[in-house]
Amino acid sequence: MIPRTSDILWQDAQHQALFEILDLLAEPDSDNEVLQRLYEYTEIHFRLEEYYMVALDYPDLETHRESHDRFREEIACLLEGGIDEPGFRNAVTIFLREWLQRHVFGVDKDLEAFILAADAK
Ligand SMILES: [Fe+2]
Ligand SMILES: [Fe+2]
Repeated sequence: MIPRTSDILWQDAQHQALFEILDLLAEPDSDNEVLQRLYEYTEIHFRLEEYYMVALDYPDLETHRESHDRFREEIACLLEGGIDEPGFRNAVTIFLREWLQRHVFGVDKDLEAFILAADAK
């Protein structure tokens, strides 16, 4: 039985937290520890979205999960190589932020609407 939610503030709050970690990553003195934090928090967030998608039999589950997997792989790859060089870290932060914005304001919005509609039933 999935918990009923009158709204899904958890999703917005978690997205906000992800963007905050990305802000930290953009700081000149940030290091791989911040990237590790991003990886771990991303995992918590993706798992929760995936939990809802499975529980509600979400029609776009596969594509949405594949999209999450690409982001997971991207960060895992960066963690392996390290982001110590400032120019590279900047490029990485811009890339991750753009990806997240597209995802959050695209497919995540569709998911949000679906969860809310399911909740209203
Ligand atoms: Fe998502
Ligand atoms: Fe999300």
